Amino acid sequence: MATAGETIDDSVAPREIAHAVIDPKSYAAWDPLLDKFDWLREHMPVARIVSDQPEGSPLWHEPFWLVTRYDDVMRISKDNATFLNNPRPVVFTTKMGEDFARAITGGSHNLVESLVVFDAPIHMNYRKLTQEWFMPKSLKRIEAQIRELANETVDRLVAAGPEADFVKLVSAPYPLHVVMQILGVPEEDEPRMLMLTQQMFGGQDEDLNQSGMKDLPPEAITQLVAGAVADFEAYFSRLTSERRAHPTEDVASIIANAIVDGEHVNDRHLAGYYIILAAAGHDTTSASTAGAMMALARDPEQFARVKADRSLLPGIVEEAIRWTSPVQNFMRTAATDTEVGGQAIAKDDWLMINYVAANHDPAQFPDPRRFDAARSPNRHLAFGAGAHQCLGLHLARLEMRILFEALLDRLESVELAGEPKRANSTFVGGLKTLPLRFTTA
Ligand code: HEM
Repeated sequence: MATAGETIDDSVAPREIAHAVIDPKSYAAWDPLLDKFDWLREHMPVARIVSDQPEGSPLWHEPFWLVTRYDDVMRISKDNATFLNNPRPVVFTTKMGEDFARAITGGSHNLVESLVVFDAPIHMNYRKLTQEWFMPKSLKRIEAQIRELANETVDRLVAAGPEADFVKLVSAPYPLHVVMQILGVPEEDEPRMLMLTQQMFGGQDEDLNQSGMKDLPPEAITQLVAGAVADFEAYFSRLTSERRAHPTEDVASIIANAIVDGEHVNDRHLAGYYIILAAAGHDTTSASTAGAMMALARDPEQFARVKADRSLLPGIVEEAIRWTSPVQNFMRTAATDTEVGGQAIAKDDWLMINYVAANHDPAQFPDPRRFDAARSPNRHLAFGAGAHQCLGLHLARLEMRILFEALLDRLESVELAGEPKRANSTFVGGLKTLPLRFTTA
């Protein structure tokens, strides 16, 4: 472990840590990264991350502040006037990635213009279009449909037993089905949606980016992600035309026919809306679902307890979301000179609020690396907080609870049948394989 003594300035993170924080592979390795966050929280809770690459190299990035304490991440998330989402990229990117986005969008640093890149007042104008749809009351209408999908998914797992990859058969396809049905994407197009999402979020991982190539250079990864976005846009542009001509009850119809400030939403914003729902709506839930299953497979006693007492299920779901924190971070830009945790921050400085680090802060979560279904309170930050707090949080909780009800009904015992593997990704991350061996009830 590097020490603060290796740094030139006491707010600049040691080189080894600065490198790990932006290296997709360290998110796959996980525990060594959590060790680094522990060190930062204690010694440098607001740390300057400076690239160890020469300026001009494809991996070079602008310096930013990494925020690792729970209280600081919470404060930044809730203060949407001081910490903005739009002036600089809200998803961490290298300078090359940012330049590439500008080149292909004609000047925007955002490859996708979605809810998360908007600030007030435009953000709320867009958010309220679909907000109601994702509230618990509205979700009640589709609960039976979700249960049916959960049962079908568990049927497929059981049929494939006694050994199977849980990610491939359950945690990846199930949330995808749910969100695609909500959106109104026909089932035959789901494999394409899965591929595009994996390329967009998993571009840094050779097993997920579908390129069939190992160690893709950063330029090729950026192109791949841009290609996925373009394909998404073309697909949703056709869907918009269809839903304008023949509106239905689905969310695509709401988006396609939305009027904001007296006008139809422009094509780029429309595409951004679909993309964030299509993409954010399943890879995240998939990662938390697989994480929960891995924790239960490793702990037969906890599995037996929750199988016998379903009132523990909401706790399992919440703990899984904290413990996995699939959205690993987001970026913010300071609107004015300010301070965070005693560290002066200048106007226009770029900050990374790290949900993984915040959700493993021992000041808030005793023994944070332990998966504890009975953890209480569990006010984690995996869904963020403030104006941008996850729009799909009720849906994520609901679909996970329903799936685990079905799994616990059908499975008698479950254990690992091999070593689970995490994806290489600095942004949305989690398990990409979870080999299980199980018996059925
Ligand atoms: C935003 C996490 C599931 C749709 C976010 C944010 C996080 C997050 C951290 C940003 C919050 C902030 O900036 O304060 C998660 C996790 C999920 C999940 C951990 C599952 C376990 C979903 C689902 C949907 C969804 C199922 C879909 C339908 C969105 C949207 C936003 C968002 C649309 C942008 C909201 C805005 O900017 O106003 N999510 N999410 N998410 N999420 Fe989720």
